[in-house]
Amino acid sequence: MTIHKRPFGTTPEGAVADLYLLAAASDFKAAITNYGGILVSLWAPDRNGKTADIVLGFDDVSGYAAKHPYFGAIVGRYGNRIAGGQFTLDGKMYSLAQNDGPNHLHGGVRGFDKALWTAEPLIRDDAVGLKLTHTSPNGDEGYPGNLSCTVTYWLTNTKTLEIEYTAVTDAPTPVNLTNHSYFNLKGHNGGDILTHELTLFADRFTPVDETLIPTGELRPVEGTPFDFRTAAAIGARINTEEEQLVRGKGYDHNFVLDADAKGRFVQAARVREPQTGRVLEVYTTEPGVQFYCGNFLDGSNVGKGGAVYNHRNGFCLETQHFPDSPNQATFPSTVLRPGQMHHTQTHFRFLTD
Ligand code: GLA
Repeated sequence: MTIHKRPFGTTPEGAVADLYLLAAASDFKAAITNYGGILVSLWAPDRNGKTADIVLGFDDVSGYAAKHPYFGAIVGRYGNRIAGGQFTLDGKMYSLAQNDGPNHLHGGVRGFDKALWTAEPLIRDDAVGLKLTHTSPNGDEGYPGNLSCTVTYWLTNTKTLEIEYTAVTDAPTPVNLTNHSYFNLKGHNGGDILTHELTLFADRFTPVDETLIPTGELRPVEGTPFDFRTAAAIGARINTEEEQLVRGKGYDHNFVLDADAKGRFVQAARVREPQTGRVLEVYTTEPGVQFYCGNFLDGSNVGKGGAVYNHRNGFCLETQHFPDSPNQATFPSTVLRPGQMHHTQTHFRFLTD
């Protein structure tokens, strides 16, 4: 197991970003940059032992510094949407950027995906890791309190990518940290993901309004195209004329894993790609997962090795608290207060069929 560092380019602010190459096994490696805490590459084997890079991304920091759809990034302070870019906390109203139609998305104009994190390589018996730290100052993107965050990636020799998030604050603030990797188990340049077979261990999802804000309902998936409780191809029902699929332009919805938010590890998803036999299992302590299937990808992002990322060429499983929780009293709370510790974990486990 090894970890090496190399320069990854200069940020628009003139700082040099680094790329850390983590090898947990000869057929299980990752590349992570301290810019945005971004997972740039992840190599995993197919059923014949052939490895491929299975996450979408760019060759150097310039692609990530420009506008892009959060490829591989750590998203914060608040992953997903906050209605109208506003919330009230302890009687005080806060205004945030409206960077997604009328709503706030993924932490604002300059979210954690654009921060240069401090990185520290780690090693343990069964894994290589990278500890990333970032302090978001009071008032950052409109959020209250100085928030000190740590995101630790571990790549294990049993082919699991573990991500652990912690944060502490000196004033009450909403927090919802996630990772926004786009997977394609055929390979990042493998075309559309519609034949990937998905299982989502969720019997409810949070339906949305026209601007993708949850209505507050936890709707049973039973009898809808959102029922992935038994494996189904992502593309099998995606073009059904159904209000929620029309609003999301496909799947772009939060699924309910644990409405009580007990912080237990549960399995969120399993994805199998039939051609290569690659399998991804997702486990998390988070109460929800946003299943997004790259509906907004349109070929305008040219990525690693010149790969063009077209419509639905990657899928995301963003483990998270529910969207718009700061405005939805019935959803599990995302408020972190001084003296408390925000702590969540997500594991992406790779196998073959
Ligand atoms: C999330 C959102 C999507 C889209 C992507 C980024 O997954 O739910 O609607 O904004 O991020 O493009």
